[in-house]
Amino acid sequence: MTATRGLEGVVAAQSAICSIVDGVLCYGGINIDELAEHATFEEVVYLLWHGVLPKRDQLTELQKQLGENATVPKEVIDSIRTYPQGVNSMAALRTAVSTLALYDAEAQVMDPEANYRKSIRLMAQTPTIIAAFDRIRKGLEPVAPNPSYSLAKNFLYMLTGNEPSDTAVKAFDVALILHADHEFNASTFAARVTVATLTDIYSGIVSAIGTLKGPLHGGANEAVANMLQEIGSVANVESYIRQKLDNKDKIMGFGHRVYKDGDPRAKWLRQMSEKLTAQIGRPELYQMSEKVEEMVTGEKGLKPNVDFYSASVYISLGLETDLFTPIFAISRMSGWTAHIMEQYTNNRLIRPRADYTGPVNQHYVPIDQR
Ligand code: ACO
Repeated sequence: MTATRGLEGVVAAQSAICSIVDGVLCYGGINIDELAEHATFEEVVYLLWHGVLPKRDQLTELQKQLGENATVPKEVIDSIRTYPQGVNSMAALRTAVSTLALYDAEAQVMDPEANYRKSIRLMAQTPTIIAAFDRIRKGLEPVAPNPSYSLAKNFLYMLTGNEPSDTAVKAFDVALILHADHEFNASTFAARVTVATLTDIYSGIVSAIGTLKGPLHGGANEAVANMLQEIGSVANVESYIRQKLDNKDKIMGFGHRVYKDGDPRAKWLRQMSEKLTAQIGRPELYQMSEKVEEMVTGEKGLKPNVDFYSASVYISLGLETDLFTPIFAISRMSGWTAHIMEQYTNNRLIRPRADYTGPVNQHYVPIDQR
């Protein structure tokens, strides 16, 4: 048996949710370029869950269900109040979502209808949890969700208590669409491995959140924001990146296991970054990013991934840096739940083998003789 490092190129299962063929990303067979241009995030959630775009009444029903289920049990909000100051935001999200399960009477019910209802609750309540966490740590009271708002608008509203602008809502909605699913990425695969034991959906989502947290996966967008802050100005890009490249450090937001010729999501975020950074009067954020891209692509041949320009987009929307990865989780909740439901419908335990490289023919040595 020979191991494939990082399972690169291994096809682990069949899936009808999302495809990446020749660098083209599709949800349910629809190119994400079309979805980013024309769809709403709620339409995409329906597409991922059902495999087809919703008709008008189906979309209205889903919007209603998401709105009605956005309120988080009081006990979960109270538990967030007990988190230590300065706690990692993804650790907080992981814990809060795990706590949600304790207050969901259907948490252990495994029929498909119950799992669909739980997917709606997870999708609807994750933004409420993140906004409440952010407000509580700032000494503010959480803002109750407005059931008539879209998921994107509601999240921005719950963070500040103010009506977000249409431009901000549209930009955030497109960012949610672009991050919604990505085939067997690390966190989705972790969720599928977890639920393939036939454990409950919350356990699968907690595995996924823990996996997304890492800097090689969802944590990269926050690392990019920190890097832009450290660079500080366009004039500093060259020396900063030169030093990183000479030290053989990884530049966050570049490279991808699947796309060697560019991430199709990045161009959307680049456009949004250019527009939004200009609108807030901080065009240097885009200019720095552009220059970083020029150097890293020019010297290493590495292209930006979804995380690179999402950093300056989220900064422009006034979002806290350490909420970038939790925001990724809001969007990816749609994909995670879609994959979990698909896994349940045609389940087989996921249990690969290891290529053993340790010692052989050893014997037990009594403790005093070791
Ligand atoms: N900066 C500098 N060099 C890089 C980078 C980078 N961002 N990414 C890859 N490389 C180099 C590696 O050092 C390696 O070089 P070598 O062959 O000389 O050793 C080569 O490119 C191949 O890289 P691997 O790490 O083996 O590629 P892998 O497919 O395992 O990893 C990953 C992909 C994790 C995305 C990697 O490119 C990376 O660490 N990027 C930075 C983190 C990041 O942006 N993650 C977000 C990914 S998108 C997402 O999850 C939403």
